Amino acid sequence: DTGYVTLDSGFVNTASCSSAITYIDGDQGILRYRGYPIDQLAGKSTFLEVSYLLIYGELPTQAQLDDFTTRIQRHTLLHEDLKRFFDGFPRNAHPMPVVSSAVNALSAYYQDSLDPSDPEQVELATIRLLAKLPTIAAYAYKKSVGQPFLYPDNSLSLVENFLRMTFGFPAEPYEVDPEVAKALDMLLILHADHEQNCSTSTVRLVGSSNANLFTSISGGINALWGPLHGGANQAVLEMLDEIKAQGGDTKDFMKRVKNKEAGVKLMGFGHRVYKNYDPRAAIVKKTADQVLAKLGANDELLDIAKGLEEVALSDDYFIERKLYPNVDFYTGLIYRAMGFPTRMFTVLFALGRLPGWIAHWREMHEDPATKIGRPRQIYTGYTERNFVDLSAR
Ligand code: SDX
Repeated sequence: DTGYVTLDSGFVNTASCSSAITYIDGDQGILRYRGYPIDQLAGKSTFLEVSYLLIYGELPTQAQLDDFTTRIQRHTLLHEDLKRFFDGFPRNAHPMPVVSSAVNALSAYYQDSLDPSDPEQVELATIRLLAKLPTIAAYAYKKSVGQPFLYPDNSLSLVENFLRMTFGFPAEPYEVDPEVAKALDMLLILHADHEQNCSTSTVRLVGSSNANLFTSISGGINALWGPLHGGANQAVLEMLDEIKAQGGDTKDFMKRVKNKEAGVKLMGFGHRVYKNYDPRAAIVKKTADQVLAKLGANDELLDIAKGLEEVALSDDYFIERKLYPNVDFYTGLIYRAMGFPTRMFTVLFALGRLPGWIAHWREMHEDPATKIGRPRQIYTGYTERNFVDLSAR
């Protein structure tokens, strides 16, 4: 109850902070947002409702949801000068640095919502981020394929708007596939928060200096890009493509993993907290079958993924290390079937994780007891010694 865990090595590892937002039991494979189990939210709620729940602590009434939706719709446009920001990036840039730069630039354009101590400014920054990140993400994709940007269409939902800005063209009307919108909405719910993971801790740590919300979120996007964290969904597809290119032999690949060949990991497997099946992965796997069938995507990679999972779940090497599929293992297959290129997968993760990042940042300012303290270290360097002149070295 003190939040301290004494490790075998005798070091005391403290919990990084307290929070009332998300509960995870890694051994039982339990995940709840504000007390609601993830499978109930994924099956019955929408991403905007879950965003409201994470940020304000309760599921919204219809009136609250309508007001939240309208306020967000009013801010989906980017400042015209910020739109020109994208002209300066090389077409072949990975979309993650483009997105994190554009999000950080919001601090320059919206100077009326930077003060963490002013609840009105925090609320305005919250709504602007939820509204503009889908537009920024769609523009990063359009830039990468050299196509014109589309303005948001506020008659659509947040997710439909994002899909239309991403895959639509000014020259012709674009019909959003309701099945794709529904599947993407559910995937965003599954990614919406996850306690003190690397990127959320980054948002908290940057925010703990009273840096503004935009710049704190930009830091979280950068941390998420790492292939051991959010970048894993891209790395899973690259791994499956590599296995397919080598004839689809999962057994040979698993041998290389177990031999710990340099850099060969079973991407999408293992987790710092879950030492059981990631509850999100189970939901995504079920959806993958349904969505791929609906989209008519007979994806050989899904069979390879299932083959890898089958081998891993029956192999002592993985069982002893409690390595199970995590949220990233199957999501990429669905994103690809939806038409997203692999490099956009981590941007989609950021879109989902945004409400969680915002909720943690706001919680830290509303309840300083939840603030991450300045981390100390265990010093292992030299004891004091005297300076040696250059001539004597
Ligand atoms: C996310 O924290 C969160 O909540 C993150 C996240 C979120 O929602 O925010 O859930 C999202 O980041 C999911 C994780 C995505 N990353 C990957 O899929 C990359 C592959 N996974 C590994 O890099 C690894 O599993 C980690 C980093 C995710 C977790 O590492 P752990 O649990 O701290 O385990 P470890 O690195 O200490 O390894 C323990 C053993 C080692 O073997 P030994 O040295 O004991 O012989 O397990 C092995 C590792 O070599 N191992 C793996 C492995 N992961 C761990 N071996 C092969 N493939 C893997 N994926």
